[in-house]
Amino acid sequence: MDAAKTRQDSPREVRQMTAARQDGRPLHHQILDELRRQIHSGDLGPGDALPSESDLMERFGVARGTVRQALAALRADGSVGGPRGRPPVVRDRRLTQPFTHTVSFSAWIKAMGMEPTGRLIELVQRPADEECAAALDIAPETRVYQLLRVRYADGEALMIERAVFAPSIGPIVAAMDLIYSSIYAELQRQGVVFASAHHEIDALAASADDAGLLGVQVRTPLLRTRRRAFSTRGEPLEWADDRYLASRVSFTVQNTVAYPQLVPRLEGSNVP
Ligand code: GLP
Repeated sequence: MDAAKTRQDSPREVRQMTAARQDGRPLHHQILDELRRQIHSGDLGPGDALPSESDLMERFGVARGTVRQALAALRADGSVGGPRGRPPVVRDRRLTQPFTHTVSFSAWIKAMGMEPTGRLIELVQRPADEECAAALDIAPETRVYQLLRVRYADGEALMIERAVFAPSIGPIVAAMDLIYSSIYAELQRQGVVFASAHHEIDALAASADDAGLLGVQVRTPLLRTRRRAFSTRGEPLEWADDRYLASRVSFTVQNTVAYPQLVPRLEGSNVP
């Protein structure tokens, strides 16, 4: 019997079931996609239990075996866990990126035992506008290379890189294999080191473009870092805007008291 007729379903659920029936793909894939979407968008956060098997059977109008196939796939990729026989719980799978040192995406992902890759969307030469010229400390209209790449860890999209490179290194970057190579590591081999960087971090909702690139819903929460990276001599080398899936990545910063020489005196006072 069609579950839609057995109880009062919300219009969204009815739409979901109808769409599932018409989609043409195996039903367990569609349930899996919907649960993944809810996890990625943050509708289901770390520690939240998934709906019970019975709820999912009713909501999607499918048999228990179909629901179990979808849940088994989520357990297998580590998205959910918890004891068998209970609704699985969403795991906090966020990868933490420390800002203590400048580290390339490739080095960071490899350090966690995963394989970094990239999908090159666009690499173009364009004249620097005022903002770009100021960020890279070059004359307006100087031609610069601009990169748009999606970065993956073990095949899963984590972030979008939009970067503009100083004219001194743009042609070197343009000649690289931008799927598997690390820009920072390749440049270092050629004697160019990203010695320091200034980051501005904020949050934003995925635009339609961002969502399409990352394969998530529009307005999915993203963490953005805008960065100017400098050479050992302090020359700007790169001006970048990186957008990470907030459901998958968090940033950590370790800091210390501003004036270490004051610590002994502060310890003796009541200053919080
Ligand atoms: C940093 C940045 C990236 C930058 C990258 C270079 O981690 N957050 O956006 O482009 O490193 O990465 P890779 O050396 O892997 O190409």
